[in-house]
Amino acid sequence: MFYIGIDLGTSAVKLLLVDEGGNVAQEVTKEYPLSFPHPGWSEQEPGDWWSAVLAGVPELVSGVDAGEVRAIGLGGQMHGLVALDMDDSVLRPAILWNDGRTAGETDYLNEVVGRETLSRYTANIAFAGFTAPKILWMKANEPEKFARISKIMLPKDYLVYKMTGVHATDYSDASGMLLLDVQNKRWSREMLEICGITEAQLPKLHESWDCVGTLKPEVARQFGLPASVKVCAGAGDNAAAAVGTGTVGAGGCNISLGTSGTVFISSDRFGVDPHNALHAFAHADGGWHLMGCMLSAASCNKWWMDEVSGDTDYSREQGKINPDKLGRNHVYFLPYLMGERSPINDTNARGTFTGLTMDTTHADMTQAVLEGVAFAIRDSFEVAKSLGIDIPRSNICGGGAKSPLWRKILANVLGIPLDMVATEQGPGYGGAILAMVADGRYPSVQAACDALVTVASTTEPEPELTRLYNERYSQFKEIYPAMKSLFPKLM
Ligand code: XUL
Repeated sequence: MFYIGIDLGTSAVKLLLVDEGGNVAQEVTKEYPLSFPHPGWSEQEPGDWWSAVLAGVPELVSGVDAGEVRAIGLGGQMHGLVALDMDDSVLRPAILWNDGRTAGETDYLNEVVGRETLSRYTANIAFAGFTAPKILWMKANEPEKFARISKIMLPKDYLVYKMTGVHATDYSDASGMLLLDVQNKRWSREMLEICGITEAQLPKLHESWDCVGTLKPEVARQFGLPASVKVCAGAGDNAAAAVGTGTVGAGGCNISLGTSGTVFISSDRFGVDPHNALHAFAHADGGWHLMGCMLSAASCNKWWMDEVSGDTDYSREQGKINPDKLGRNHVYFLPYLMGERSPINDTNARGTFTGLTMDTTHADMTQAVLEGVAFAIRDSFEVAKSLGIDIPRSNICGGGAKSPLWRKILANVLGIPLDMVATEQGPGYGGAILAMVADGRYPSVQAACDALVTVASTTEPEPELTRLYNERYSQFKEIYPAMKSLFPKLM
């Protein structure tokens, strides 16, 4: 028997075919464009996601008996606004999680509706990337399109809708809309009223492993799969990645170094950060999590390599970094290329290099990029610690985690061991696990993770390097406050 995990990412969709023993039998990646129509805006065409899946699934299952495929589970980029009209046509490109256009709407929600009220309704405050501010933006800026909205959904829910015809979402992803009463797992009537929408426009809520439907006959034909294949509700990509790395139940931590960078702390109990710097969301295992999300993580290195260095051999570039310079770099990088979410919540923040001198080398700047991302991850980590949460170690996943040097820097900046699991495909593997639970192979997500996920390697921190990085981090922390008031003037 086989299960399909789909990771709907920001740069590509990654499809995994996983056998009943949890082994990855096949992997297919299909890229699609990302557009930045204005500085700080970020959009994608939902039709491009669907075309990528339509092209990828037949390739994925080409070598196996299609009758053996039992279920599909998805993890998807969170918070994106997908709006459909009465005829199910997409009303505008999806506004993505890292889009910063809604500063005005976010301020309105936080200052006029009020942070305390929002936190009471949803367990969270407004961040520019969340879905509710985008709905308000559409209402104010595209009123004619807003009036035609028949269905609102998140990115992975669009794929589920195309596959099954069922308008559904799951609690982990719905948590990031600022429309869900997270603690009680129901839509917040108050938030719907504030946004001028109705429950009829929203998807039906599910646990991530709930089977929401089976493939539509024409989709089954296009995929080359039987129409009996089940599709489960799936999860936001961070919750799916946490499942994929076995970060479930109480007290687990997963760090994702993908386009975004996240610190994900799982819990069996609902809890809110009193300052709302960390998001309080539902988890895909039926529990909860706190999460800090930085908007540009591995994407900072991608930008530095592709756009500035003009070199696609990332490991060759990292090979030029002198190991003796770790913890001793006097160049600092602020990784705020798309503004920043956690914990500073500032759409005006921008990337900077600081501390350059005549003897600064290209390798020092590459190192500063890797370190700047690690320091910004530590910012969220420190918020969690300030809440009394003990994080003795963490899993790590995402494209950036493949770099041994970056893992070493991060393990020493945080001062904890970082574990890589054997199946490092994060959200896609989590999606496949959810599909197995939906198909009844395991009684719970926890049971599936216990059976399938194992640690393959650990990066240990070194006391002397951790000490050096502590000093560097205290300097890094001073850079953003010193520059904060300048950023809005740089527009
Ligand atoms: C989480 C977030 C990002 C996206 C990336 O809140 O916005 O991690 O989910 O796909």
